[in-house]
Amino acid sequence: MFTQFFGLKFNPFSKEIPTEQLFLSQDLMELNSRLKYLQQTRGIGLVAGEPGAGKSTALRKYVTELNPVLYKSCYFSLATVTVLEFYQGLALELGEEPKHKKVAIFHQIQQAISSMYDERRITPVIVLDEIHLASNKLLEDLRLIFNFRMDSQNPFILILSGQPLIRNKLSLNINNPLRQRLAVKYIMQGLKENELKDYCITRLKLAGLHEDIFTGPALEAINSVTGGLPRLVNNLVTNCLLVACEKKQRQIDEEVVYQAQNELNL
Ligand SMILES: Nc1ncnc2c1ncn2[C@@H]1O[C@H](COP(=O)(O)OP(=O)(O)O)[C@@H](O)[C@H]1O
Ligand SMILES: [Mg+2]
Repeated sequence: MFTQFFGLKFNPFSKEIPTEQLFLSQDLMELNSRLKYLQQTRGIGLVAGEPGAGKSTALRKYVTELNPVLYKSCYFSLATVTVLEFYQGLALELGEEPKHKKVAIFHQIQQAISSMYDERRITPVIVLDEIHLASNKLLEDLRLIFNFRMDSQNPFILILSGQPLIRNKLSLNINNPLRQRLAVKYIMQGLKENELKDYCITRLKLAGLHEDIFTGPALEAINSVTGGLPRLVNNLVTNCLLVACEKKQRQIDEEVVYQAQNELNL
C-alpha cells in the first residue's frame, strides 16, 4: 500500500477531511467573506461552480462554524431529496409537523421562520445544494416562500449552491424575480495555480509526510489536467502516489502524473 511506502498515516487526499483541516484556499476565503456579508444583510445567496470545485465542502465548513445560539442551519441536497421531501424536511427542521398539502407546508415554513427570528432571535440558515437540478417551478416557489412581509424583511439566510447551469436557468425571464433578489453571488474556481503546491504539501504534512515529493513540472501537469478542481486534484494525486509506489520511486515527476492520468482515464 502506498501509505506505508511514503510513511503516511492515512491517504491525505481522501475525501473524509475534518472541516478544521480544510485547505484555506483563496476561493474558500473569498466565498467566506461573501457569506459573512450575507450574514449581515440576510436574504438569498448563490454559490456556483463546476462539480468538484469545493462548493459543498465550503458550505459544510461555513455552517459548522455558525454560532448555534444565533443561527439554526439546515442542509438539503436536491440530488438526494425530492422537492416535496425538501419542503417537509425543512418544516420538520424548523420544528413543525409537516402538513399534507404543499400550500399548507409553505405556510408552516414561513410561520416557523418568522417566529424563530422574531421571538427567539435565531436566524435560520438554509442551504439548498445541487440547485441546478431545480425546476423553474421550484425556483418560483422558493421565491414565494422566502418573501416576508412583502419583501420588507429578511428573517432568514438561504444559500443556493450548484453547477454553472443554474446561472443559465436564473437568467430566464421567468426567474427574474428570484435572480434580482440574490444578495450575493460567488463562483468557485478551485485552487489557483500558485496554491496547488502548498495544497499538496499541506495535505501530505497532515498525514505525517514532511517532504516535498513533487517536482515543478509534475505540479504544472497536475494543474493543467485538473484545472485546480479539488476533487480532480485529489483523485489524480492519489493515483500518482499509487504509481510512484509501484515504481518504488519517492518523487512524483511528470512521468508519474501522466501515467496516473492515463490509468484514471481507462
Ligand atoms: N478547501 C479544501 N481543502 C481540502 N479538500 C477540499 C477543499 N475543498 C474541496 N475539497 C475536496 O474536494 C472534493 C470536492 O469537493 P466538493 O465540496 O464535494 O465539491 P462540489 O460540491 O463543488 O462538487 C471533496 O472530496 C473535498 O474533500
Ligand atoms: Mg457538491
